[in-house]
Amino acid sequence: MPSLPGNGTIVVLTGAGISKESGLDTFRDKDGIWAKVRMEDVATPDGFRRDPAKVHAFYNARRRNLAEGGVAPNAAHAALARLEREWPGEVLLVTQNIDDLHERAGSENLIHMHGELLKIRCVKCARPFAWTRDLGIEDKCPDCYRVGSLRPHVVWFGEVPLHMERIFEALAQCALFLSIGTSGHVYPAAGFVQTVRGLGRAQAVELNLEPSEGASLFHESRLGPASRLVPAFVEDLLSR
Ligand code: APR
Repeated sequence: MPSLPGNGTIVVLTGAGISKESGLDTFRDKDGIWAKVRMEDVATPDGFRRDPAKVHAFYNARRRNLAEGGVAPNAAHAALARLEREWPGEVLLVTQNIDDLHERAGSENLIHMHGELLKIRCVKCARPFAWTRDLGIEDKCPDCYRVGSLRPHVVWFGEVPLHMERIFEALAQCALFLSIGTSGHVYPAAGFVQTVRGLGRAQAVELNLEPSEGASLFHESRLGPASRLVPAFVEDLLSR
């Protein structure tokens, strides 16, 4: 357990692994999403230009599963909400996930750097808004009334992740950087540990089922399922 000032800022990064035990697929595990569908077809601007109906079908299935598939937050999501409530300093939760399990577990100081599955936006108006049903090329923007201009409010490969300035401000002054359930494949999130280590101030800890790409950059790596590791780690932090 790292030595930590009692009210230091904690930045937590989560990836698909934290939602795996809630029944949501990860991306790069052997049975993951990218083993079933080509990311170039459904998670890039070119893919959307080529075949918008295919992209809508991909996100409609995931949105339906999240909204109707009995998917619920697990003990790891709940433990991070507890940490935010009970830790005397700030806890900023930065998630790569587009599901709403952190919100449903009670986390509030939360950034979705890759967007949100339950929001869409018009490519012309750009304002995101809540959307829980299927989306299609025949749907009309409620603001500009254009047909076919609505897309998932999700950051695709080649697009800029959201709220990066606020994320880097928090990384620059955190005392603990905690990475959970991410393979460390996709930047800029995969580079957050280098940023923290380069500043030489914070402790960096990884909780993951298996070592991530950046495992060697962490002061401490604990391997196992998030639903077991995260509650134990949070209990350790709060009971010191
Ligand atoms: N508990 C903890 N970690 C787990 C669990 C679990 N129960 N199950 C799997 N993992 C780990 C895997 O070992 C892997 O290291 O979670 C990680 C998931 O990695 P990815 O599938 O690559 O998901 P992620 O890191 O979130 O991907 C980042 O890539 O495709 C894009 O935009 C997408 O946000 C996503 C980004």
